[in-house]
Amino acid sequence: MNDGKVSRRAAKVLPFYVMDLMAKAKALEAQGRDVVHMEVGEPDFATPEPILQAAIEFLAQGDVHYTQAQGLLALREKIAQFYHTTYRVSVPAERIFITPGASGALTVALAILLDEGDEVLTPAPGYPCNNNLIALLSAKAKAVDVFAEDNFQLTASAIAEAWGDATRGVMIASPSNPTGMMIAREQLAVLIEQVQQRKGFFISDEIYHGLSYAEPAVSALELSDDVFVLNSFSKYFGMTGWRLGWLIVPEYAVSAANRLMQNLYISSATHSQYAALAAFDGVTLDILQQRRDEFKRRRDVLYDGLEALGFKMNARPQGAFYIYVDCSAFCEDSYSFAMELLEHSALAITPGLDFGANQPESYLRFAYTTSVERIELGLQRLKEFLVVKQAV
Ligand SMILES: Cc1ncc(COP(=O)(O)O)c(C=O)c1O
Repeated sequence: MNDGKVSRRAAKVLPFYVMDLMAKAKALEAQGRDVVHMEVGEPDFATPEPILQAAIEFLAQGDVHYTQAQGLLALREKIAQFYHTTYRVSVPAERIFITPGASGALTVALAILLDEGDEVLTPAPGYPCNNNLIALLSAKAKAVDVFAEDNFQLTASAIAEAWGDATRGVMIASPSNPTGMMIAREQLAVLIEQVQQRKGFFISDEIYHGLSYAEPAVSALELSDDVFVLNSFSKYFGMTGWRLGWLIVPEYAVSAANRLMQNLYISSATHSQYAALAAFDGVTLDILQQRRDEFKRRRDVLYDGLEALGFKMNARPQGAFYIYVDCSAFCEDSYSFAMELLEHSALAITPGLDFGANQPESYLRFAYTTSVERIELGLQRLKEFLVVKQAV
């Protein structure tokens, strides 16, 4: 009972259902069970050595103070250079903000753009924090169901249909969490055009860029300067715990972004910023490419394994490190299925409930953030579990 002491805004922020699962996994591990973890959305690899070395050298001299709110100029210039080489776009360092993870970037972007009562179109299934952050700002996420035949991404007609008087903009992620599916260049251009025709904002979450296994992902900045693009050192660069990301804003939002960064965070973690100066070095990028190839290998082992077990498979995900699987052939409630699977067979995966209200009971998210050997063990356990379940 909080007797109304906790704000209505805070009350609207939902927990992650996977936390129940993780608590259960911890309890099982405390009893000595070996749990295969495929629920976690973070790479299992250690921080790449050159990044670690850069941090150690910086920390060794002991001067660890705030940076400017916008972030180290040297790092923003490296990011600007990265956009030039990767996407052939020119983004001035003045429009780049170094943030505490993509989470910080999302908070700043949404705080710049939303007033009370505003509405934002977000895909379902999608990354759950977006809707919670929007609610925290007293605005409203309008979830738009997306489907396998559209790569689980928004379409122009879905935007046209869902857009209402209070709608101010759209958020997308490509590759997406939880599906790993991407938006093709032409489709992205159409979506941006749809939104701009309505004078709305477009937020492109590009946190899984670099982790794509056929075509490279397209940045919204290749198609327009009037977009908010966020990215992070968490996923491709393997730096989740360093809490570092970035936000690129249109010219008109630079002053607001600066004021929000100053007030919300003062600055992002200084040692993380110095570490990230080594993130774009050739030696680091070589390591990251090898890891990307390993993720691709894992994806194929997992995808083929799930298909062989009889799951109804959609297209092979093009990026990120997730497979979002239709489990309706085996259960009516994916949350109970995930809980029973963990309890019975010590395999942890994330139920669809964490990704919104579009048929969550029929989906499970598998993260291939563990080795091929562990994925194979996980598949073996899943197979045995399905046999037991079908025998009941
Ligand atoms: C789509 C998406 N956006 C943003 C984030 C936040 O990442 P971070 O704050 O670690 O950069 C995540 C994390 O899982 C994510 O999946």
